[in-house]
Amino acid sequence: MKFFVDTADIAEIRALAATGMVDGVTTNPSLILKSGRKIEEVTAEICAAVSGPVSAEVAATEAEAMIAEGRRLAEIAPNIAVKVPLTWDGLRACKTLSDAGTMVNVTLCFSANQALLAAKAGATFISPFIGRLDDIGLDGMALIADIRQIYDNYHFETQILAASIRTVNHVQEAAKIGADVATLPPGVLRKLADHPLTDKGLETFLADWAKTGQSILG
Ligand code: E4P
Repeated sequence: MKFFVDTADIAEIRALAATGMVDGVTTNPSLILKSGRKIEEVTAEICAAVSGPVSAEVAATEAEAMIAEGRRLAEIAPNIAVKVPLTWDGLRACKTLSDAGTMVNVTLCFSANQALLAAKAGATFISPFIGRLDDIGLDGMALIADIRQIYDNYHFETQILAASIRTVNHVQEAAKIGADVATLPPGVLRKLADHPLTDKGLETFLADWAKTGQSILG
C-alpha cells in the first residue's frame, strides 16, 4: 500500500519523507487555506520535496474552466495530479486531462457508482472519503470494498486512494481490503508506529543496558 500525506505543511512533509514513508501528497482548498500560502508556491515546494504524485485541486466548477485550471496546475511540476470533484463537469475535465497524459485524482467520491464513472473517465486515482461517510452513520470502509470489487471485476487501472482517514484502524482495514493508496493526516501516519509494548520493552532494554556500563561506540 502506498502512503500519501494529506497536508500542505511543507515542514511535516519533509520530516515524514525522511522516514521513507511518503509516496505522495494530497492537498485540497481547505489545506491550502490552513497553510496560509499561495497554491502555486506551496505546491511547487511540495513537488520538489517528494518524487511521487502531488494532488492539487481545481477551484472551478465548469468543465472548460476546470481544464484550464488543471493545465495551469500541471505546469507546476511533472508529478502533479490534478484533483477534480466528482461531478459531470469534473468527469469531463478528467477525461480531457487524462487523455492529454495528465494524472487526475477524482475527489469527493461517496458511492461505488461514482467510482465506476471516474474509472471510465480515465482517472488515475479515485478518492472515496471514508471518515465523512462514517461521520453521518454510513460505512466508509464498505465503500472501499465495493470499489475494489468493481475495479477488479473490470480490470480498471484507476487506483483506489482511501481518503478522509481519521484513525489507524481505517488504515489497517483499507490495507486489508486492498486499497492501492491511503492518504493520511500526518498525525495518523505517526500513530501507526505506536504500541505500548514497544515503549515498555524499550524502557526495560535501556535500563538493563545502562546497568551493563557498556558503550557500543566505545
Ligand atoms: C484528500 O484528498 C481529502 O481531501 C481528505 O482526505 C479529506 O479529509 P477530511 O474529510 O478529513 O477533510
